[in-house]
Amino acid sequence: MLKGRSILLIIGGGIAAYKSAELIRLIKKSGGGVRVILTKAGSEFVTPLTLASLSGEKVYDHLFSLTDEIEMGHIELSRVADLVVVAPATADLMAKAANGLANDLASTTLLATDKPVLMAPAMNVRMWLHAATQRNLATLRADGVTFVGPNEGDMACGEYGPGRMAEPAEILAAIDEMFGSGAIPMPAPPPVKELAPPRGPLAGKHVLITAGPTHEPIDPVRYIANRSSGKQGYALAEAARDLGARVTLVSGPVSLPPPAGVMLVRVETAREMNEAVEAALPADIAIFAAAVADWRVKAEAGQKLKKDGKAIPPLELAENPDILARIARHPSKRPALVVGFAAETEKVVEHAQAKRARKGCDIIVANDVSPGSGVMGGDRNRVHILGDAGAETLPEMDKAAVARALIARFAVTLARKES
Ligand SMILES: Cc1cc2nc3c(=O)[nH]c(=O)nc-3n(C[C@H](O)[C@H](O)[C@H](O)COP(=O)(O)O)c2cc1C
Repeated sequence: MLKGRSILLIIGGGIAAYKSAELIRLIKKSGGGVRVILTKAGSEFVTPLTLASLSGEKVYDHLFSLTDEIEMGHIELSRVADLVVVAPATADLMAKAANGLANDLASTTLLATDKPVLMAPAMNVRMWLHAATQRNLATLRADGVTFVGPNEGDMACGEYGPGRMAEPAEILAAIDEMFGSGAIPMPAPPPVKELAPPRGPLAGKHVLITAGPTHEPIDPVRYIANRSSGKQGYALAEAARDLGARVTLVSGPVSLPPPAGVMLVRVETAREMNEAVEAALPADIAIFAAAVADWRVKAEAGQKLKKDGKAIPPLELAENPDILARIARHPSKRPALVVGFAAETEKVVEHAQAKRARKGCDIIVANDVSPGSGVMGGDRNRVHILGDAGAETLPEMDKAAVARALIARFAVTLARKES
């Protein structure tokens, strides 16, 4: 329990920054207070607004901010906490701290603090194993810094090995341990506002969304893919979150930043997506916006296929699981509202209507992805919503506006179904 404890959390510029939003939630749940310093690179991955909402405190991100300096100077900021936690501790932040650099608020604070420091490193496996990082690690350990992680596993960059940031629960356990050892004295608690429970028409509801393409391996270096960018699915996740829902986003390989406050499950293949969707049930609403490959290569080659001047290798295909149809007909855990997406290149409404009947879902959102429409990978979309009540065509809008319009309608449909 962290009751009465105050933690200064420094969030560096790594993919794992999104996990720190969850860490803030866990610290608060344990009764602790959190102030956040977000580095410039960190703000590329999570927004100050999300962190301020979760921590209930202002987020500090500038060394030379007159207002901040008047409110709470950078030296004071480093002193008022009981513990400084750096998560993710990027290679850059570790290097700065090991060498006493102080050229931004985070590194200056680390140099100015007289409080214990816990670092949760997160970086690409090669960055972690690089002699420079290992040297910095040894220096920081010798300086008294405590480390949690990194863990070994699949990395966001597609590699495998040590470098994954410890999970928020593991970092919380490490914090607990540092306080539990009695090494950190108990100070007067800072005032911390309670985090307001989520509000909105989807508060208390679980919304499951799939997004992006799937990659179906041919051999270790090649795969079958499609042009889906995941933008519409990610926008739907944010819109559902903004209406108060707990959101699970099962995403194929995309180059979008993880949406804050959303549980992101990354997958590659249709079969992995199928399993992740099943694991995420039960849900109140399930929206299948991913462009799942209909087929995969029947026998994935264990080694790279060689162009050796002989016959062109035949690619025999096998059918992938039909995730939408399966969930729409789930024997025990069918979500109250199941929404499918149809990407059509001709007879858009007609084909989508047939798909709705075939798949057994409640609503189909049809979009015209014909060449020249610019929908696949683009920022705008024009959709037709086909449900029991007939078809509604929305005007062309950016994908965020389309997502807000769709989620608002789904919230109303769900409420009607439940009443
Ligand atoms: C998409 C992307 C992901 C990155 N992920 C990491 C990471 O996980 N760990 C890391 O050490 N650096 C990562 N970097 C590089 C850091 O962002 C970069 O070194 C930055 O200067 C670190 O700033 P910081 O000191 O504020 O953390 C990433 C960069 C990009 C563009």
